[in-house]
Amino acid sequence: MRTENKFLTILAVLSLTVSSFGACSFTTSSKPVESTPTPRIITATPTPKPTKTPTPTNTPKPTNTPKPTSTPTPEVKMDVSGLAEYYKDYFPIGVAASASTISAVRYKQLILDNFTQITPENETKPDAILSADASRNGLPGTYTHAAVNFDRCKNAVKFCVDNGMQMRLHTLVWHSQTPYWFFTEDYTRNGKLVSREVMLQRMENYIKDVIEYFDTNYPGLIYAIDVCNEAFDSGNGDENGIRKVDNQWYETVGPDYYYQAFVFARKYAPDYMKLFYNDYGCSGKYTQMIKHLAQAKEEGLIDGIGMQSHLSLSDRVSGSYYLAMKAFLEAGYELQVTELDIGMDSLTDNNLALQARKYKVLFNNLLKLKDGGYNVSSVTLWGISDNLSWRSGKYPLLFDRSLNPKKAYYGALQDPSIPTIE
Ligand code: GLA
Repeated sequence: MRTENKFLTILAVLSLTVSSFGACSFTTSSKPVESTPTPRIITATPTPKPTKTPTPTNTPKPTNTPKPTSTPTPEVKMDVSGLAEYYKDYFPIGVAASASTISAVRYKQLILDNFTQITPENETKPDAILSADASRNGLPGTYTHAAVNFDRCKNAVKFCVDNGMQMRLHTLVWHSQTPYWFFTEDYTRNGKLVSREVMLQRMENYIKDVIEYFDTNYPGLIYAIDVCNEAFDSGNGDENGIRKVDNQWYETVGPDYYYQAFVFARKYAPDYMKLFYNDYGCSGKYTQMIKHLAQAKEEGLIDGIGMQSHLSLSDRVSGSYYLAMKAFLEAGYELQVTELDIGMDSLTDNNLALQARKYKVLFNNLLKLKDGGYNVSSVTLWGISDNLSWRSGKYPLLFDRSLNPKKAYYGALQDPSIPTIE
């Protein structure tokens, strides 16, 4: 089927799905932020027919010998109903969601229609899993082995299990959202920081506990782990650009803390949990990242790089952002876009149109990379709708606050009427 026809089929199905969904579920929802209703009908002139049949995705593709690129042609079935289905022969599409979003009935169908992977927005971060009271009360037995508790991520896990979705484990070692007490002698806010040796033991036990909890109770659920988040930051870093400011991992373990995290993660993770280093601003620091991670890479401790991708309309997604992608892939990493959102400073029709083009180009580049044989293995949006975003004032996501698909959504779906230029 020609791509433009496929696209129109998708739109027809989407229109029906979203209209009926909206009619059933959102009659009492708040007024949309957008002053102009989001266009629902695409009056596009079809673009030329693509020529290439997609490569089957069951067999892993080689990462080091890219083939010449050609026009991407996602194979779409007639019953296609959204993003994940559209890209299913290329890579899965995920979404970040908080515990309350996951539990809310109004978001459920939209999640199921568009995504096959979930990243808990906060519920698998160290401050959600580490248990202060149990660690403190258990001393001295807990001195090198802090207590953990998984209650806060149970909703997200259940949602994934019930709906056959996979989950990203975000994140094990990070300077932020990790309680200060975890690093002190007596597990209190005021205690003295422990030695490198003790903190390495705590790090190992924490990583082991988290990985074993998921592998034992939910084998196969976790497709990737952000083993370490945001360790490289020259503005807040040491002379080598390793994050130092407000970083108790650096203070206790030292500048190799991120490397140690990969040593322990590899020791305990089953093969199906891919080990990722995740960071923001990759366009400006990809060379440094590759350098810092070289040892872990050579030793087989790391599988991939997660590009957070909190972008703005001023970012050229075909510029240094694309060069960063290419550099990671050519260095032999698996690549995942892990926290995608593209913000705008003010809500205007022009900005909505530009945002749609950016989303289109970004996804189109990923399709080309896949067709070139590179290992792009997942794309995750950092939220469902603009009201749920941590950057809600920037309207960065694919659905507006009334859950209507924005032009950006159609851009992400390669709508032929949206130009593939930024
Ligand atoms: C970073 C983190 C995410 C999230 C965002 C802000 O990108 O990796 O977990 O906290 O900041 O919401």
